[in-house]
Amino acid sequence: MIVGVQWGDEGKGKVVDLLAERADAVVRFQGGNNAGHTIIRDGETFKFHLIPSGILYPGKTCVIGNGVVIDPKVLTEEIDGLRARGVDTSGLRISANAHLIMPYHLLLDHAGETRLGKLQIGTTRRGIGPCYADKAARLGIRVQDLLDEKILKKKITAALEPKRLSLRPFAKDPSLDLHTMTEEYLTYGHRLEQYIADTTSLVWDLLDNRRTVIFEGAQGTLLDIDHGTYPFVTSSNPVSGAATVGAGVGPKDIDEVWGVAKAYVTRVGAGPFPTELDDELGEQIRQRGGEFGTTTGRARRTGWIDLVALRYAARINTLTALAITKLDVLSGFDRLHVCTSYRGEEGAEFHAFPYHQSVLHHARPQYEELPGWSEDIGEARTESDLPQAARDYLRFVSEFVGVPIVLAGVGPGREQIVWTRAGEQSLAAPAAA
Ligand code: GDP
Ligand code: IMO
Ligand code: MG
Repeated sequence: MIVGVQWGDEGKGKVVDLLAERADAVVRFQGGNNAGHTIIRDGETFKFHLIPSGILYPGKTCVIGNGVVIDPKVLTEEIDGLRARGVDTSGLRISANAHLIMPYHLLLDHAGETRLGKLQIGTTRRGIGPCYADKAARLGIRVQDLLDEKILKKKITAALEPKRLSLRPFAKDPSLDLHTMTEEYLTYGHRLEQYIADTTSLVWDLLDNRRTVIFEGAQGTLLDIDHGTYPFVTSSNPVSGAATVGAGVGPKDIDEVWGVAKAYVTRVGAGPFPTELDDELGEQIRQRGGEFGTTTGRARRTGWIDLVALRYAARINTLTALAITKLDVLSGFDRLHVCTSYRGEEGAEFHAFPYHQSVLHHARPQYEELPGWSEDIGEARTESDLPQAARDYLRFVSEFVGVPIVLAGVGPGREQIVWTRAGEQSLAAPAAA
């Protein structure tokens, strides 16, 4: 299992792509097209929003699980876009139980943010929250409903009824017309039918035959609706435990959980961010790291690595390994800061991630300083190629968090990876089993 352990955009796509080569299937289990996962192969850039990051291997089984919310317009466009680039999408499988993002979810997401004004969450405005809300309210439309006109119409009517008031400002919006909406979604149904499957049994079959399955998380632990910085979170659970629910497997089916973290931290959207650098230094990291959103193009907020939050994420996800990406972006800083505790408003020191929202909002980071390095590390491929200070930085993070580091990213390219000894051992293990 590969999960993000910060506020998203940690580089999950790249890590999944690296591992997918050895796997029989890749499964997305939560989130929707709020996600943007980047893979750079031979200088060509791919950005995935819904399709799992294993699709670049011809015929690889790539599952969109029941826990994902699907905007069928975005999905069909993503399939078409890949096919136009010569990518084989025949391995795609879509859960019949996944919920659909409907035109009214998009409108409600926009309206909700506008209503919040200055207090807005900064959602991706892709309709994610309203869709999960309908799922919980048992008013959701599912992928299987696309295949039956009568059921589809009935369910849309039932879903619209309680929203009449909130949708009143959009009364004239043509996308809300029942007939138009039904026709549009039936067309998506025809397009997607060949991919729709009982994905839970499909994954069971693979696991029961001792095949390797990768579960690909979207977003990150601190955006988790239960364990993140509520209400500045997404509407699903990006933590590892959610893969069981979102794909239909049991906890014992999961052998390894790798947490992906940047060597620093970024966040898009509003909400507390104790180590944020709202200054020239933060801007430098943003420029060097190219920190602009994959999905919305928004500038990402940047800051030093937060080991209090990372240790929390390690526990909540029961991480067996850490993948640290974008180490190259830290080259050229004299001194690096790592946050090892917070100081509260009244001076109290916090070593654990505070559960109380106001404490977190006022938390001031306490730093340890570590020496930086000036060398360009983009060509490093083994630990010994890295400057001593970079190795020390990784060791400090690993020891503080209590989780071995399996790899460090030294550039966006697929080959720009340093596997540590722990990483090589971990890769060798499943092959020997
Ligand atoms: P995801 O949502 O977790 O898959 O991450 P995104 O794709 O949204 O953002 C990560 C960005 O960092 C992408 O542009 C990647 O190409 C890039 N990236 C990933 N790993 C590295 C790395 O080790 N170094 C650098 N410089 N860029 C990286
Ligand atoms: P990947 O998978 C970074 C953030 C939004 C906003 C909050 C709620 O690429 O890491 P939503 O649209 O989900 O209701 O927005 O969550 N957010 C992400 N931030 N990476 C993502 O995905 C994100 N998906 C949602 O910016 O703050
Ligand atoms: Mg992303």
